[in-house]
Amino acid sequence: MTFTTLITGASSGLGAEMARQFVDLGHDLALAARRTEKLEALKAEILTAHPGRRVELYALDVTDDAAVDAVFAQAAGDFGRLDRVIVNAGLGKGAPYGKGSHYANRETLATNVLGAAAQTEAAMAVFREQKAGHLVLVSSISALRGMPKSMTTYAASKAFVAHLGEGLRNEMLGKPDLDIDISVLYPGYIRSEMNEKVEQKTKFMTDTVTGVRSMVSAIEARKPKAYVPAKPWVAIGTAMKVLPLPLARKLF
Ligand SMILES: NC(=O)c1ccc[n+]([C@@H]2O[C@H](COP(=O)([O-])OP(=O)(O)OC[C@H]3O[C@@H](n4cnc5c(N)ncnc54)[C@H](OP(=O)(O)O)[C@@H]3O)[C@@H](O)[C@H]2O)c1
Repeated sequence: MTFTTLITGASSGLGAEMARQFVDLGHDLALAARRTEKLEALKAEILTAHPGRRVELYALDVTDDAAVDAVFAQAAGDFGRLDRVIVNAGLGKGAPYGKGSHYANRETLATNVLGAAAQTEAAMAVFREQKAGHLVLVSSISALRGMPKSMTTYAASKAFVAHLGEGLRNEMLGKPDLDIDISVLYPGYIRSEMNEKVEQKTKFMTDTVTGVRSMVSAIEARKPKAYVPAKPWVAIGTAMKVLPLPLARKLF
């Protein structure tokens, strides 16, 4: 039977490249985002290279809980099941605290925290029904420590995503009757639209194809957690977690 993967935030960056690489592995795809014209272009590109594959598109704003429930249920119905859901949609907007730009932090929290929670709720409902599935949560290496200025809220939102994943993995350890795996990815810097918008240092930037290849191989291995790409992020992430803040802040 064909393996079906739902990817949110598939209209650009890591989500779009994951779609390309998963279809190369033979997956059928449910792709969601707000910019449907970008999804249409991606679908056309994918089907040109792989005419036999099935790709369905869904307009979705992940900050709309009801829409998330409806789209995930619709996709599960369209394909008959969802084998994997990748909670990838994310926003890198943010502002230093106390400088009058709370709206930017609020928008990031709505997308990355409430949006991720809504997607997880909808995915887990499908997986509990199927008694199987693979939930992949895209966190960030920045989740490992508190980050300064415009990164503060983003990093905190991604720490939520990481703990959400570990909490579910904890629950699933006690549920041998459910074949549900949970993976949390912590990408380092991988080239995407987000890097063009966000004020951040660009040391150790990886190109999109190489960075996403590392994400895809961690996902396929169903790793519980993975710093990606492994080089240099396993070393940096491990150091970030243990070093005192004045030293850790120099690494990222
Ligand atoms: N690139 C990196 O270096 C890096 C590092 C660590 C973690 N990440 C994470 O990787 C994920 C993908 O980001 P990216 O780097 O590929 O950035 P990107 O190119 O900006 O892509 C973000 C995606 O999220 C979607 N999105 C944003 N807000 C949404 C909303 N309210 N509803 C539905 N979709 C929404 C966008 O689609 P629409 O605008 O069409 O809706 C877009 O497809 C994010 O979770 C990001 O935090 C990226």
